[in-house]
Amino acid sequence: MQKKSLAVFLSLAFLFIALAGAQASGHGKEKPPKKGILLVVFGSTHPEAQAAFNAIAQKTAALFPGVPVRFAYTSHIIREKLAKEGKALESPAQALANMANDGFTHVAVQSFHTIPGKEFHDLLSVVRGFHGMPDAPQKITVGAPLLNTQEDMDKAAKALLATLPKTRKPGEAVVLMGHGTPHPANAMYPALMWQTQQTDSGVFIGTVEGYPGPDEILAALKKQDVKKIWLMPFMSVAGDHAKNDMAGDEEDSWKSRFTKAGLSCEPVLKGTAEYPEFLDIWMAHLASAVKELE
Ligand code: CO
Repeated sequence: MQKKSLAVFLSLAFLFIALAGAQASGHGKEKPPKKGILLVVFGSTHPEAQAAFNAIAQKTAALFPGVPVRFAYTSHIIREKLAKEGKALESPAQALANMANDGFTHVAVQSFHTIPGKEFHDLLSVVRGFHGMPDAPQKITVGAPLLNTQEDMDKAAKALLATLPKTRKPGEAVVLMGHGTPHPANAMYPALMWQTQQTDSGVFIGTVEGYPGPDEILAALKKQDVKKIWLMPFMSVAGDHAKNDMAGDEEDSWKSRFTKAGLSCEPVLKGTAEYPEFLDIWMAHLASAVKELE
């Protein structure tokens, strides 16, 4: 956390120094307008996660032809790990500073978070830090995460019902693994579960770090006398949590716990951003952010 704040501070400090230098040397003329898109993801070290990033990049390029698109990664740990492999990934602050340096005047930032939790609010703080900075982009807008309004919840419930495994048989349940958080926005997960269950009572949404956890979900499954479940991540990218905490062979993975409780488990390792039904919701938010630039 402290490291992260320091990184943001340093990026902003470097930008300020670079820009102040440019102004002092008499190049403070108004820049020609240049629009760009910055896509913000958590990041992942798993090669399988690349499928979600590719889906996001392709859809963005198709919907906003001619607009340069860049990626930023919020996870400090992942940036550090990949830097050791020679892959330099930028944080949102670094990416925005570089876009300012490269002459972007209008930037639409889209977060691929699921809920407006702590990480999304951190992103808003970073963007706010650029306001009023000399030579920073004149306008930076931010697109909402997947679940932000009741309209998003309606769309997400539909998307969820449309992306359930096609070979699921009657009586089989689907358990989705959301990330979860102590942030109050965690309430979006059980709210979406309730809404989805009005149509399909066999759909459950649990979380790794919030409420409900796997024990609460297991209790609910027992009440319905379910014998088989499908496990799916409810995160934009099927990364470490999906691979290990959900579908891993370790004792405390969801697959192991539910199997031990007598359920047969079938994991599906696909992030929500890989399904056009969910990706469209994020893209609608990006379209609003791009529109706001005008
Ligand atoms: Co996590």
